[in-house]
Amino acid sequence: MLNFLKKNSDNQEKTERCFDSSKPVADHIAVIMDGNGRWAQKRMLPRIAGHKEGMNNVKVITKHASKLGVKVLTLYAFSTENWKRPTDEVNFLMKLPVDFFDVFVPELIEENVRVNVMGYKEFLPAHTQKAVENAMEQTKENTGLILNFALNYGSRAEILTAVNDIVALAKSGDLPDEVDEKTFSSHLMTASLGEALQDPDLLIRTSGEERISNFLLWQIAYSELFFTDKYWPDFTTTDLEEAIGSYQLRNRRFGGLKDTTEGDA
Ligand code: FPP
Repeated sequence: MLNFLKKNSDNQEKTERCFDSSKPVADHIAVIMDGNGRWAQKRMLPRIAGHKEGMNNVKVITKHASKLGVKVLTLYAFSTENWKRPTDEVNFLMKLPVDFFDVFVPELIEENVRVNVMGYKEFLPAHTQKAVENAMEQTKENTGLILNFALNYGSRAEILTAVNDIVALAKSGDLPDEVDEKTFSSHLMTASLGEALQDPDLLIRTSGEERISNFLLWQIAYSELFFTDKYWPDFTTTDLEEAIGSYQLRNRRFGGLKDTTEGDA
C-alpha cells in the first residue's frame, strides 16, 4: 500500500498521493495546460517563451504517460476562444504544431505514439493544417498511446455541431425517433478515439485555476478532476504520477453505490 496519510510541516494531516504501479492507471487523461504566460512573466520573458517551454513539456509528459500505460492523452492546445489573443501570440501558437511535429515525429514514431488532432481544423492556417495532417498520417499505424491534441476546439461548438449533424440526419430520415447517449457521443469529435476511450477518466488542470473553460463538457460528466498550482512548463513526470496516484485513490461510482461509501455522485 503506497498511498498513506502523512503529517506536513504544519503538523496537519494531508493525503500523500503516491502513484501505485500495481493499480490501474487512468486510461484517458485530459490536460488543460494552463500557466505558460505566467511561467514566462515570472522570469521576465515574453509570453511566447512560456508557450515554447510548454511545447517542450508536451514531449516529456507524453513519453512518461506512454511509459505508464496511459492509452489516450488529450491536450487542450488552442481553444475556439483563444483567437481573441493578440495576433502575434496567436501566430506563435499556430506555428507550435509545425515546430513540434517537425522535431518530434520521429521520436513519437519510436515510442509507437499515434497523433490525433480534433477541433475545427479547417479554420487553422494552411501551414498548421499541413503539419497536423502529416503528423497524423505519419503515425497512423502506431498502436500505442494516442496523443490527442484539441486544436481550435471548443466544447459548446462541438455539441452544437453534433446537434446540427443529427438534425440533418433526422431531416433525411436517417435516424431513429430517439437519440441516446451512445448515438450523441458518436457525433462528437472524440468519437474517433473509440467508444471505450472517448471520455477522460482523469482531467488535470495546471496553474491553480479551477474551471473547465469549455473543454470536453459532455465527455467529463464522470471524470475525476485534479487541480495543481504548478504552471504547465513546470509540471513534471512526478506531478503526473501524483495526479494518477490521486486518481487511484478515488472511489468512482458513476452515480451508483460501490464499496462502503453511499451517495449519488
Ligand atoms: C494556456 O496558458 C495555454 C495555451 C493557450 C497554449 C497551450 C499550448 C501549449 C502548451 C503547447 C502546445 C503544443 C503543441 C505541439 C500544439 P496561458 O497562456 O493562458 O497562460 P497564462 O494563464 O499564465 O497566461
